[in-house]
Amino acid sequence: MDRDPVYESITFDLWRSKCLVAAAELSIADHLASGPLSLDELAARCDCPAQRVMRLLRPLIGEGFFSRNQAGEYCNSEKTERLRSDHPQTLLPIALQFAWTRDQGWWKVADSVRTGRTGYQLEFGQELFEHLADNEKLAANFDRAMTALYSAETDGIVHGFNFGDVERLMDVGGGNGSTLVPILQQYDHLQGVLFDQDHVVERAKEALAESPVFDRIEFQTGDFFAPIEHRADTIMLRHVIHDWDWDDSQTILRHCRDSVGPDGQVLVVEMVVPEDDRPHPAKWLDAVMMIVTGGWERTEEQYRELFDGAGLRLDRVISATVPHARVSETIEILVGKPTTA
Ligand SMILES: C[S@@+](CC[C@H](N)C(=O)[O-])C[C@H]1O[C@@H](n2cnc3c(N)ncnc32)[C@H](O)[C@@H]1O
Repeated sequence: MDRDPVYESITFDLWRSKCLVAAAELSIADHLASGPLSLDELAARCDCPAQRVMRLLRPLIGEGFFSRNQAGEYCNSEKTERLRSDHPQTLLPIALQFAWTRDQGWWKVADSVRTGRTGYQLEFGQELFEHLADNEKLAANFDRAMTALYSAETDGIVHGFNFGDVERLMDVGGGNGSTLVPILQQYDHLQGVLFDQDHVVERAKEALAESPVFDRIEFQTGDFFAPIEHRADTIMLRHVIHDWDWDDSQTILRHCRDSVGPDGQVLVVEMVVPEDDRPHPAKWLDAVMMIVTGGWERTEEQYRELFDGAGLRLDRVISATVPHARVSETIEILVGKPTTA
């Protein structure tokens, strides 16, 4: 049946998303990881009444999320394997990020649009990164959610940009290092610097202790709203600038420009919003930024202007193909070169 698309969007799309996120929060895919379970066994592992577990899963099963075998036992389906915590491309952290943050402030969209404040601030009285700094469990999950969302892009970056002439690459706002590590693995000569807030870097250092490139990474903590005292010939900012409004973005970029010096370069890795009206994931991500962090996804022209105000010239835009994309089939690497001393 073809349902009215407006009705579908405001009801079934929401219900499907909420049930799936709840199933993730109840660890159902993990409970089913070692094989099929009867409803009673599954409900006992979730510590929930059986009838309610059945009613949560029934509409999902109808759409291929989870399944039942001939004995009527519950199983993971191909789709829900990716909600297992041990799946190499797990989507669980993304679901938990929604579950634990009231959908990242998306209960307050109209208020956010009306007031100019983020939905996150309206919901929690704190901005996202302040909230994460105060909540270790949420922050550790956020790092993993960024990997789940964006790690497919790293291949595109590694192959889309030639790091052959780079000596020292600083990943500013580099999170858990899941971008820097594959680049260092691909380019043996490179020295890496992972720069982020102290709680993020502490977790990254611990998690990367066994990495074969650990010795080539310098772990540095700091705040990119203050001058960055560490030096590199190339700075990369992946999905950092889109978190911030115009003035904050220019402050970060200016600090990066000062850090790389007159002969360096600043790579901003983001999706560029097309000027026309065709559908593009960057347009949705821009709405996410408006509601969640107060940032923007920008057009190429807006990046050019943004760079210009930070003493950078937009030298070129490389559109890298992202195989097995989660968000977008291409990712743009915007190369900024310092214009002023
Ligand atoms: C959206 S995440 C992107 C992480 C990573 N670059 C990636 O692509 O997966 C933004 C990062 O900016 C960092 N960040 C936020 N505020 C910061 C600040 N004031 N100084 C340094 N890093 C900050 C966060 O801790 C987080 O790791």
